[in-house]
Order: sequence, then structure tokens, then C-alpha cells
Amino acid sequence: MSEPENELLLDHEYDGIREYDNPLPAWWVYTWLATVLICFPYVAWFHGAEGRTIQDQYEQELTDFAQAMIATYGDLDADQDTILRYMQDDVAMAGMASQFKGKCATCHRADGSGNVGPNLTDDSWINVTKVEDIVGVIRNGVPAKGMTAWGGTFSDTQLVLMAAYVASLRLHPVDGKAPQGNEIAPWPELAPTANASGAPAADAGTQ
Ligand code: HEC
Repeated sequence: MSEPENELLLDHEYDGIREYDNPLPAWWVYTWLATVLICFPYVAWFHGAEGRTIQDQYEQELTDFAQAMIATYGDLDADQDTILRYMQDDVAMAGMASQFKGKCATCHRADGSGNVGPNLTDDSWINVTKVEDIVGVIRNGVPAKGMTAWGGTFSDTQLVLMAAYVASLRLHPVDGKAPQGNEIAPWPELAPTANASGAPAADAGTQ
């Protein structure tokens, strides 16, 4: 062992093994310190402000879009024809799909195939016999069974559009949670007059 190196030796010794005082380079220590300091504002920014993933930002845009769209639909009636009509409105249904993904998918899965909540894509329903019943279930929930009441979250118009979206899930059955409740008749056909008289979105562009 050469002499100059001995100056770096620490003065303890274990079983003949001695240790150098070998500090980390300054650049390394300051880089490490910088990452520690940056993490606080970064966490605040990411969770508290704009720092969303691209996926989140996309979903936020869809949600904003859905809300703007709802502002344009005005007050919708929770009747059969209105629900059936909006089931065919691709723009409204795309907006509701993002709402469903954000608020309902934890229990019903994004494709509606069921998890904690029942499969919404099959023909068996627990609380629904007519398509317009869906509005009430979403509004009031089934608190005893774990279905949240959404009346405070969604406006009446949103409830109608969400009911239309849920009803539309049944048109694309997905193998998921086993059927619960009773098998019900298919949704009725949309009366042609209702379609002709009042589908704002379907005809808006052709005028
Ligand atoms: C916390 C879990 C949970 C969330 C979140 C949730 N649901 Fe449910 N949902 C349930 C459960 C559980 C049931 C079954 C209720 C019962 O057994 O009567 C249910 C039932 C339903 C039904 C009736 C199904 C039937 O067969 O009668 C509809 C419609 C429905 N949910 C729509 C929605 C929509 C729309 C959302 C989002 C806005 C939503 N749910 C969010 C748990 C949830």
C-alpha cells in the first residue's frame, strides 16, 4: 500500500480490514439533493395542478366537451322517446362514454360488463323493466346494494343522456358478470315520428 493513500485511510480497523474515506463526488451529491428538493413542487404540481397524464388530459377534454354539449341540449325529458332518440346520437353517446368511464367503470367496468355492479350489457336487469326506469336508478341509486345515487352529480339532462348511454350498452353484449335479475323485453323501436320531429344532432349538419 503506497504512502499517500494512507492519508485517506480512516482510523478504524476490523479484522485487519481498513476503510478509505472516499466521499461521493460533489456533482453526484448536488444532483441527488436537487432531485429531493424538486420532488416537493413536482408532487404538488402533478397531483394538485396541471400535471396530468396525457390520458387524463384527454379524458378531461372529453368531459369538458360533454358538459359544453349538455349546455347546448337544454332540458331533456326523461321519457322513452327521448332516451331512444339520444341512444342514436353518436356525439352525445361519446360524451357519456367518457363520463361512464370516469364515474361508473369502477363498479360496472368501462365496457359495462359488470364487476361490483351488474353487467349492463345483457338482457337481465334487477331494477329496470322499461328503458326509462334507468334514469331513476341512476338518479336515486340503490344505496342498500352499493349503487351510488347520482342525482346530486348529474343534471336532469345528463341523467337522460347517461340513461341513453347505459341503454345503448345492451346493444353490444359483453361476456362478463353472470346475468342478475330478470330477463326483460328488448328496448322498443324508436317511433318514426319522434325521430323525424326532434333529433337535433342527427340532422343538424345536413340542413
Ligand atoms: C360503487 C359502485 C357503483 C358505482 C360507482 C356505480 N354503480 Fe351502478 N350499480 C352498482 C350496484 C352494486 C348495482 C346493483 C344494484 C342492485 O343490486 O339493485 C348497480 C346497478 C346499476 C343499474 C341498474 C342495473 C339493474 O340491473 O337494475 C344501473 C342502470 C347502473 N347501476 C348505472 C350506473 C351508472 C350510470 C353509474 C355511473 C354514473 C353507476 N351505475 C355507478 C354499483 C355501482
